[in-house]
Amino acid sequence: MAGQSAPTLGIEAVSKRFGAVRAVDDVSFGIERGSLACLIGPNGAGKSTLLHCIAGFLSPDGGRISLDGQDVAGWSPHKRARAGLATVFQVMRAPHLDVLSATMIGCHAWTRTGFVSGILRPPWQWREERRIREEAWRALELVGLAHRARDTADALPLGQLRLLSVARVLAQRPSVLLLDEPVAGLRAGEKSQLRKVFRDLRARGLTQIIVEHDMQFVGSVAERIIVLDRGRVIADGPPAEVRHDEAVITAYLGTATL
Ligand SMILES: Nc1ncnc2c1ncn2[C@@H]1O[C@H](COP(=O)(O)OP(=O)(O)OP(=O)(O)O)[C@@H](O)[C@H]1O
Ligand SMILES: [Mg+2]
Repeated sequence: MAGQSAPTLGIEAVSKRFGAVRAVDDVSFGIERGSLACLIGPNGAGKSTLLHCIAGFLSPDGGRISLDGQDVAGWSPHKRARAGLATVFQVMRAPHLDVLSATMIGCHAWTRTGFVSGILRPPWQWREERRIREEAWRALELVGLAHRARDTADALPLGQLRLLSVARVLAQRPSVLLLDEPVAGLRAGEKSQLRKVFRDLRARGLTQIIVEHDMQFVGSVAERIIVLDRGRVIADGPPAEVRHDEAVITAYLGTATL
């Protein structure tokens, strides 16, 4: 569109069926660079399916997904992540590692060596290791978890485990973050911590797409809300607009306030 910058993430007429179920049905929208959009809608609306199509875990049956103007069709999740499109998994297997090492694993997946240990490393490997360690520290500081860097990841409460799963992805320096229900099951204080992290990341220019059912949370972080119902976009706009949309109230919000 004239006068508007191209979206960093483009979704054009994307569809995904499972048998007779149209999980995602002709969905189109663009996500502006540096924006924070929430994707909401009833159970089974197709939110996770769409996120998985964007991340590359599912192949759409039709349509086009682009990152910075490049068609990502056929790109593996790994290649998409290397290009900056990263997924934060809600459930992170916390290995018996300390928090710093668990964060470093996020980077090791993308380096030449992988997570190997040994004393006969060439100098470039040590440099790489140092760089990864620095990235991991930076990521832990961003999410406010640096004070737990030496603790065992397994021992963290759920809220801090979520922060760790975000840090692990941030350590790869992504440009677009995809999150599926990041605050589900968390206590109020833990939600506030994540809210602050997402706002801070937004202020740093990171693009975020958050799928979430917690409407209070959505209302407090989203600058734009996209509503899916039975695979289709039924509303797309700022919270002030979407919260009064009749179709959204009928399909999803009911008495919940956004
Ligand atoms: N792997 C699959 N095989 C078959 N059907 C699936 C598969 N994944 C999702 N579906 C179906 O596709 C539709 C969309 O599911 P999806 O998980 O994307 O919804 P959602 O919006 O994420 O819901 P929720 O809010 O409950 O997480 C549902 O009807 C679901 O049963
Ligand atoms: Mg889902």
